Amino acid sequence: MPSTVVFSLLAFILGVSAINWVPPFTNVTIFSPPSTYTAPQTSYARTVVIPSDGKDTNVLLATWQNHSPEPPKVYFHIYRSTDLGQSWEPFSNVTDTENNWGLRAQPFLYRMTERIGKFPAGTILCAGNSIPANGSHTQIDLYASMDKGRSWEFVSHVASGGAAIPNNGETPVWEPSIMTVDHRIVVFYSDQRDPAYGQKLAHQSSSDLITWGPVVNDVAKPTYSDRPGMTIIAALPNGQYILTYEYGGAPEADFAVYYRLSKSPLTFNSPASAPGAVIRATTGELPIASPYVTWTPHGGVNGTIIVSASSHQGVFTNTKLAAPGSTWTYVESKAGASYSREVRVLPRNDQILLTGGGPYGGTMNSVTASILQL
Ligand SMILES: *[C@@H]1O[C@H](CO)[C@@H](O)[C@H](O)[C@H]1NC(C)=O
Ligand SMILES: *[C@@H]1O[C@H](CO)[C@@H](O)[C@H](O)[C@H]1NC(C)=O
Ligand SMILES: *[C@@H]1O[C@H](CO)[C@@H](O)[C@H](O)[C@H]1NC(C)=O
Ligand SMILES: *[C@@H]1O[C@H](CO)[C@@H](O)[C@H](O)[C@H]1NC(C)=O
Repeated sequence: MPSTVVFSLLAFILGVSAINWVPPFTNVTIFSPPSTYTAPQTSYARTVVIPSDGKDTNVLLATWQNHSPEPPKVYFHIYRSTDLGQSWEPFSNVTDTENNWGLRAQPFLYRMTERIGKFPAGTILCAGNSIPANGSHTQIDLYASMDKGRSWEFVSHVASGGAAIPNNGETPVWEPSIMTVDHRIVVFYSDQRDPAYGQKLAHQSSSDLITWGPVVNDVAKPTYSDRPGMTIIAALPNGQYILTYEYGGAPEADFAVYYRLSKSPLTFNSPASAPGAVIRATTGELPIASPYVTWTPHGGVNGTIIVSASSHQGVFTNTKLAAPGSTWTYVESKAGASYSREVRVLPRNDQILLTGGGPYGGTMNSVTASILQL
């Protein structure tokens, strides 16, 4: 009998209503771009878990960046899984209802943990980059779903930037990620608008999701041509936070993955957190480009920090809370490497969901999900 069948039988016999554990799987296809798509690339795969509420099981939603043919304007697909990633169905679309440019790049999904403004706990947020087809503008916009991802409404414009060109001297904004800090929603992103920096990392926060506070730096390097990019932050059990970023201009390798630690997710650019440290496994592997970080309680008193980068199929782990000088271990995975691959802790915290599209500029780019069993 296939393990999934055995598992289903066991779940039935034991009366388990919410699936909490799955037999590990590799490269389950969520979505393959049809030949009508203007480019086969997919990237920036993102998921969110909607926890079991007693009636439904745990639900996963997934989205990613892709190149759907226009019209209609390019949009973010939302696919849904009710079996922790073993199978997926199309569920909804997040479409640009404001700019008539499309939602073209770098989506991020987030489930609200408390009511903020008119948005109750459980609201699903989707931030992404709205860019016209000619690339003349970049606009980080926020959408919300109050029905678990079925329908979406525009919430607010967060940050407005110039042309979608990743060169120093241009002024785009890129790559939002979301957290709740002190009862505010914080959107972190890469920012090329400040003439002092080729690119820096910054955030803005809001107590109602409508009006956004000032731009606050998170990683801004003194050398103009340095390009820190792609903020992802995870909370650690010692009260600290870890921010991973790719560091364009890093001495070890261009876009080597670095991290900073901070007591607050809002103060990563303070002297106590700067300048950040490179991640390198004890066996020599150096992660490069488009990192993602998460933390799981699994793996001992400190739990385990898990970092993915587009250079490697495997992940980089640390069981010492990323303390300065602590060791990183390279852990093999069978999942494909991909550009900005997400690592997410599933309800049974020894299972890590790796969700990714293709490599940068690749030509065979299904969005897939895999389980890394710790
Ligand atoms: C998403 O939008 C496309 C294009 O309009 C449409 O064909 C598709 O049915 C939509 N998907 C869902 C799940 O609504
Ligand atoms: C690019 O597209 C935007 C949005 O449609 C439009 O406002 C702008 O004029 C276009 N720019 C050029 C140079 O075509
Ligand atoms: C937990 O992390 C701290 C801080 O790095 C370290 O001193 C300690 O040895 C770690 N404990 C274990 C069991 O690894
Ligand atoms: C999963 O897909 C990736 C990329 O396509 C490939 O490198 C890897 O070998 C696949 N894993 C398995 C177990 O087939």
